[in-house]
Formats: sequence, C-alpha cells, structure tokens
Amino acid sequence: MSRRTLSFVCQNCGSAYNRWQGKCEGCGEWNTLSEEGADRVAGPGRKPGKGRPFILEPLAGEANDAPRLPCGIGELDRVTGGGFVRGSVLLVGGDPGIGKSTLLIQTTAALARAGHRVVYISGEEAIGQVRLRAERLGLRDAPVELASETSVEDILATVSDGKIPRLIIIDSIQTMWTDTVESAPGTVTQVRGSAQALIRFAKKSGAAVILVGHVTKDGQIAGPRVVEHMVDAVLSFEGEGSHQFRILRAVKNRFGPTDEIGVFEMTGLGLREVTNPSELFLSERDLGQPGTAVFAGIEGTRPVLVEMQALVAPSSLGTPRRAVVGWDPSRLSMVLAVLEAHCGVRLGGHDVYLNVAGGLRIHEPAADLAAAAALVSSLANSPLPADAVYFGEVSLSGAVRPVAQSAARLKEAAKLGFARAVVPEAARAEAGEPGLSINDIGSLASLVADIAARGNRGIRGQTDGEDG
Ligand code: TYD
Ligand code: MG
Repeated sequence: MSRRTLSFVCQNCGSAYNRWQGKCEGCGEWNTLSEEGADRVAGPGRKPGKGRPFILEPLAGEANDAPRLPCGIGELDRVTGGGFVRGSVLLVGGDPGIGKSTLLIQTTAALARAGHRVVYISGEEAIGQVRLRAERLGLRDAPVELASETSVEDILATVSDGKIPRLIIIDSIQTMWTDTVESAPGTVTQVRGSAQALIRFAKKSGAAVILVGHVTKDGQIAGPRVVEHMVDAVLSFEGEGSHQFRILRAVKNRFGPTDEIGVFEMTGLGLREVTNPSELFLSERDLGQPGTAVFAGIEGTRPVLVEMQALVAPSSLGTPRRAVVGWDPSRLSMVLAVLEAHCGVRLGGHDVYLNVAGGLRIHEPAADLAAAAALVSSLANSPLPADAVYFGEVSLSGAVRPVAQSAARLKEAAKLGFARAVVPEAARAEAGEPGLSINDIGSLASLVADIAARGNRGIRGQTDGEDG
C-alpha cells in the first residue's frame, strides 16, 4: 500500500497539497505553493512502523524550576523575564539590518566573559565577517566559540561533544538544513525540520537556544508561522529606519511577561542600552508647536513618556485622508468620531495625520486623551502647554475614563520636569503626592473647549458660528 505524499507546501502558512494549485486554501494567498520533498515518515534513525513505549510521569514530582541565566544586558533580561531559561528556545525576529546579529554577538560575548560556554553559529556570514564585527564592538577577547555552518546534524554533533553549552545562537534559522527532510534550505519544510531538531536538542540537553528569524515585508517571521508556535518565546526587534532607537518586544513568552520592552540605541560601537526611554523619546520635542501632546504611557512595568504629533489640514480629496504611525488606526477613527459627535469638532473636510514620535508603537487605550488633545490643538492652531502631560481613555459617550497605574505615570512626568497633568477624574485620588499640578477632566468636550478657546482657528469647519 503506498502512502500518498504531499509535496506542494504553501510558503506562507505551511499547508500541504498533493498537486500544485494557484491559491492556497489554507491562508488564501496566491502563488505561494512550491514543490518540496515530503517529510520522511519517521523521525531520524527509525524505521516507519511500530512506536516504542515511553514512561508516563505523574504531575507531582521534581519540577526543574526554570533556572535562568541573566546575560547582564539589562534591557534584554527585562524582556526575557529575567534571563534565558535552561532548555528553552527563543526566536528573535526582525527586519534585515535592524541589528539582530549585533545584539546576539554582544549577548554571547557578555555570557562568555562571565565564564559560560556559549556557541555562535552563523549560517549567513563567514567567520571573518563575524570577527570583524566583534572587533569593531571591542569583543575580540570574549571566549565565544564560533562557526559558520548550516547543517543541523553537524551542529548538534559538535555542540553535544564535551560540556553542553549554556547558550547556542543559530543565525539564522532560514539558512539551516537537516538531513531528515528532502527540500531546499529556506523552504518551510526545512525550516520546520531544522527548528524541530534544535528544539529537541535544547529540551534534552538543557542548553538555551536562540534562533534568529527573518521577517517578511509585512512583518511576519518569514515562512513558517509554525516555528512561532514551536518555540518558548518570540522576541521582535523593531525600529524605524531613520531613528537610532531599537525596541525589543516580547510577542510570546512562556516564562515571562509579554508586555515589556527593551530599548536600545544603535551607535558606532554597537547597541547601547537605554535605561530611561522617556528622555530619548522626548528629546526631539517640538516645544510649543500646535499639534503635539506628551502622553504618559506604560510599557510593561515601566512608565514611558512619548510625544504624539498630529496634523489636521483642509483636504482637497473627496474622502479625506487618515494616516497613523505608531498607533491603532481604528482607535484614531473612534477618537475622531467622538470629537465630531460630542465635542462639536468638524473634521469631515480635513486630512488627519497622527504620529508617535521616536518610532515607538503604542497599544494602550490610555493614549486616547493625548491623541485627541494633539488633534484639536492642530485644528485650532492652539499650542498645548509645553509642561503638560496627558493620559486617559475616551469612551464612545465622550467621557474620559480612568486608566491603570496613574501614580506611576504621574511620578515619571514629575521626574522629567513636567508641571501639570491632564488626566481622568479618578487619577487624583490615586496619585498621592504627585509633585505636579493635576487638571482632572470628566469629559473630552471640556478639554476641547479649553484648547479651542486659546486657539486662533475655528474648530467647527466652514459653518463656524452658523450651526451653533
Ligand atoms: P546586523 O546586526 O548585521 O543586522 P541583522 O543581523 O539584523 O541583519 O546590523 C547591521 C546594521 O547595524 C548595519 O546597518 C550597520 C549597523 N551597525 C552599527 O550602526 N553599529 C555597529 O557597531 C554595528 C556592528 C552595526
Ligand atoms: Mg544578521
């Protein structure tokens, strides 16, 4: 009896088919199927057929309490949740050139200097290139074990020899290939097979493994999303092209928080930790310009102050443009709708642009109030006070709702020299001794009226004064 082999695999989602077709039914993408050798039916070194029994364990028993290995780079340890967990596998994704290799060579060097055995396998660069980078970063003396290899079997044979390394870097998983599957390196099947072998090794040996993954232009780890499901943690390394800031964010973490960010700055001497991100994100501040508001946000456990910039300009288009960078477009639509419906702001004939400065991406609804303030400030040509911060969630009824961790936000603002905060009513009670003056507001309309009164441009569009 012959087993049907599925040999066309979607390079986007990993669905397999037994003949070619234009569209993948799994994910709906076109032209993503390519022919690959089928996975060998059995695992490595075993004949297909009977399985072998293994011992089932009780739930109670010795739990290896995930001993961690902090690498000493504080911003990275913060994101992993306190260090690399023994036997865990971590995927680091990011655009080409963002600094993944730089970050990881710095990490390995720090650990090697602390006396741990660490191995750095580069599948993309020759040893000479890696050495050149290390030299530039002043890491030449660190006893990192280095190789330029792509065969997973060879790599595993090498690292199993002698003392098991504490950390193994695979840069990148897309360049790896394994004997157990018969398709070209870089294909979904190969990436999945290689990742599987490396994960199996990590679990068995207790070494921590970091896989580097490339990201496609739409921001996904290239090829197999399946790898994301297989690993213990996924970190994404992000940054805006024109900025020197790099943000490391946990997308998934089985052993730690997923809302922490690590902030780095790319310098001529590699990545430098930024321990106080607010100073960085505010350093480019357009003081006293209409359309800018400072938002007191929280990233993970840490308050971060960031500037929100808005531009509202009369539109020449039938459907005015709405563009947003660094924030959720649907929240922008919601804030605009509330401004129209409850605050008498006419935006139907205006293009609206909103930008979060510094390349940070904000996920909090608490940014509603700062966004609204920036928008109205731009429309009314009314600069906001340069020493004020804003936070609060705006509800569909136009009320300003309280948000979590008000005290921490206010404390950070006071620390950075801000003198007043425009906040939801509940924040005052929570604040204690904030060290700055608090202007608590119950509805968005009162803030809008206040900003408009100080501006020199009407906020009610062409019909200003006529429709009341
Ligand atoms: P790299 O770590 O090779 O990126 P990735 O592995 O994510 O593709 O980083 C490459 C970029 O970083 C490159 O554009 C040069 C820059 N860079 C610096 O600015 N300073 C440095 O010290 C180093 C090593 C790189
Ligand atoms: Mg690289």
